Amino acid sequence: MKFELTQRPRRLRTTNIIRGLVRETRLSADTLVYPFFVVEGVDIKEEIPTMPGQYRWSIDRLYELLNEILKSGIKSVLIFGIPNVKDEFGSSAWDKNGIVQKALRYIKKYFPDIYCITDVCMCEYTSHGHCGIICGDYVDNDKTLEVLAKTALSHAEAGADMIAPSDMMDGRIAAIRKALDNSGYINTPIMSYSVKYSSAFYGPFRDAADSAPAFGDRKSYQMDFHNSREAILEAELDISEGADILMVKPGMAYLDVLKEIKNKFNKPVALYSVSGEYSMIKAGAKLGYIDEMSIVGESTVCMYRAGADILITYYAMEIAKLIKEGKIG
Ligand code: PBG
Repeated sequence: MKFELTQRPRRLRTTNIIRGLVRETRLSADTLVYPFFVVEGVDIKEEIPTMPGQYRWSIDRLYELLNEILKSGIKSVLIFGIPNVKDEFGSSAWDKNGIVQKALRYIKKYFPDIYCITDVCMCEYTSHGHCGIICGDYVDNDKTLEVLAKTALSHAEAGADMIAPSDMMDGRIAAIRKALDNSGYINTPIMSYSVKYSSAFYGPFRDAADSAPAFGDRKSYQMDFHNSREAILEAELDISEGADILMVKPGMAYLDVLKEIKNKFNKPVALYSVSGEYSMIKAGAKLGYIDEMSIVGESTVCMYRAGADILITYYAMEIAKLIKEGKIG
C-alpha cells in the first residue's frame, strides 16, 4: 500500500545523531547551582535523614565537598547556614562570625574559583523558625527588612558573590540593594526568590536546617499555590526594586509559572528544584519503583525546556555527570 504523507516527523528521529542535530533544549553544567548546608562544630559530615546523600558539613571538612563539586564541573553553590544559637531576632544571621560568614571566608580563601551565592532569610536563625521578626504572632514586614539588609551586607562583606533573599517580605529587594550599594557593593547581584510558594515540598529542608516554624505556617508571606497572576506581580515588583535574576520555587510542579515568568520578563530566570522533589525521587528509587538517574535526567531536561536559565538542585553533580556522559543535553 502506498501512502502519500508529506509530513513525517519520525524522519528526524531515526538516529542519535539526527536527534542531536534537531534537539531544542541544550544543557550545560555552567547553569547548575548546588545547594548545601554548613554547621558549626568540627569534623562533621552528617547525613540528613530525609535527604539521603545530602549532608550537614562543618567548615573544616568542607574541602571534601568543594573538591567534589569542582571535579564535577559545577561552578556555583548556594550556601545555607545552621547556627549554634537561635534567638527571637535571628541575630546570628548578621554576625561577622556567623556560620555563613565564616564559611564564605574559608571558601574564598581556599576555593576562590567557586561562585558563592548565599540564601538570605531569618528562619534558620530565629528561635520561632519564622522568616522574620515576630510581633504577636504576625511576622512584621518592615522590621524584618532591616535585619535582612544587615544580613545581606554581612554576607557581601564576608565574600559572597551573589545574594539570594528567600524570605518573601515586601520591599526586601529595595532594602537589600540599598544596603549593598551604600557600602560599595554595586556589583553584587541579587537573585530574588521572587516567586516562592508556601509549599509542603520544603519539608525535608526544614529537617535539614531545623527551621520549621514553631507555630503557624508561612502562608502570610509565601505565596498561595492557587495563584499564578500574583507571580507576575511579585516578579514585576522585584525587577522595579533592582533584582538581577528572578527565581521560581519549587520546580517540577510549578513549570507553568516558570514559563510565564520567562516569557514576560527580560531577566534570567532560575528554578529551584527543592528538597521534597529530591527526596521523592530518592525514596521511589530506593523502593525500586523508578530508575533514579533516568527520572533525574528527564525531569531536569523538562525544567530547562520550560524555560529555566539556571537550575538549583541537590542533584547538580549527578546531572553534570549525565551531561558529560551524553545521556542528556
Ligand atoms: C529559607 C528557605 C527554605 C528553602 C530555601 N530557603 C525553606 C522555607 O522557606 O521553609 C527551601 C529549600 C528546599 O526545600 O530545598 N526560607
